[in-house]
Amino acid sequence: MKRIAFFDAKPYDRESFDRINSQYEIHYYEDKLNPETARLAAGFDAACAFVNDDIGTQTVRILIDEGVGVLAMRCAGYSNVDFQAAEGRLTVVRVPAYSPHAVAEHAMGMLLTVNRRLHKAYIRTREFNFNISGLTGVDLYGKTAGVVGTGKIGRAFIELCRGFGMRVIAHDPYPVEGIDYVTLTQLLHESDVISLHCPLTQQSHHLLDEAAFAQMKRGAFIINTSRGALIDSTALLKALNDGTVRGAGLDVYEEETEYFYEDRSIEPIRDDVLSLLVSKPNVLITSHQAFLTEEALANIASTTLANLDEYFSGRELTNEVRYHRESGKVVEDPRRLQTARN
Ligand code: NAI
Repeated sequence: MKRIAFFDAKPYDRESFDRINSQYEIHYYEDKLNPETARLAAGFDAACAFVNDDIGTQTVRILIDEGVGVLAMRCAGYSNVDFQAAEGRLTVVRVPAYSPHAVAEHAMGMLLTVNRRLHKAYIRTREFNFNISGLTGVDLYGKTAGVVGTGKIGRAFIELCRGFGMRVIAHDPYPVEGIDYVTLTQLLHESDVISLHCPLTQQSHHLLDEAAFAQMKRGAFIINTSRGALIDSTALLKALNDGTVRGAGLDVYEEETEYFYEDRSIEPIRDDVLSLLVSKPNVLITSHQAFLTEEALANIASTTLANLDEYFSGRELTNEVRYHRESGKVVEDPRRLQTARN
């Protein structure tokens, strides 16, 4: 029986994997995968990791040293993996789509909450404070949503926006039919809501920086369910303070690794930017939970185990992520990207 070292395991992970697994010996480690814990994978055939694990050069080298042949990422994003170190020595597979609807619906939920201050209303009425001053929102109907990244999740979010009677514009280097594409500058100028659905890459790092906020329509809402480092958080704080941004819904944060998924409620938070963001009445932060639906967890478990089945039986890997030496870029198998867009 092949053995899997499963890192950063949460109770809901065990439940969804144990429900369908019969052919692997899975050892669940609560620790994240990082250079300190990577040796726990010694003697295992595969390692399974998640979004906030530190799979940089050192971790990858240790996994290879310990004889691990495949790293199964049980998530869509892979910006935390050093593919250059892995190239040709550690196969990396991922789960490209477990439920685009789960993430898109969470993004819309955050927008509705921040706009209508539902998170504040909830706290008030729990205290029998039925005053509604300060909870004024805007109609979303007729407003412009600017969607950055029109892949699976971006397109699901666009459908939700259209259901609300919003005009939708989008920006993506790979346009698809039926969407009104504009330049990023135009999107920043015209959007009342900006929702980020592109991956984190060298090009998209701090896509929303001080210069981008300066180009935005005054009073825009920012929603980020993609990756924290798409936004320069200090620039966002400034834009929230000067009114450029009316509200922000953040399911991800650039320095989230130390905090998200953990209970840090009894410790002083050393990250001042995070503390300031959390303290703002017009900011809603959730802990990278946009994916967390029963359907998505079931899909994550089945796709991860299917990826491992393909690897161990020597079949073609449907969800392999590769590093292209010529262009120095991390890309999926180009045939799969084509299928994903269709
Ligand atoms: P996808 O691969 O289907 O679509 C991404 C789209 O972004 C593609 O169309 C691509 O051309 C576009 N893109 C790439 N660089 C861009 C740029 N610089 N500007 C504009 N567009 C760009 O990915 P999918 O499934 O829609 O996921 C999007 C992101 O959502 C993932 O990269 C991941 O980081 C995040 N995610 C977050 C989750 C959560 O729980 N918060 C769960 C799953 C994914």
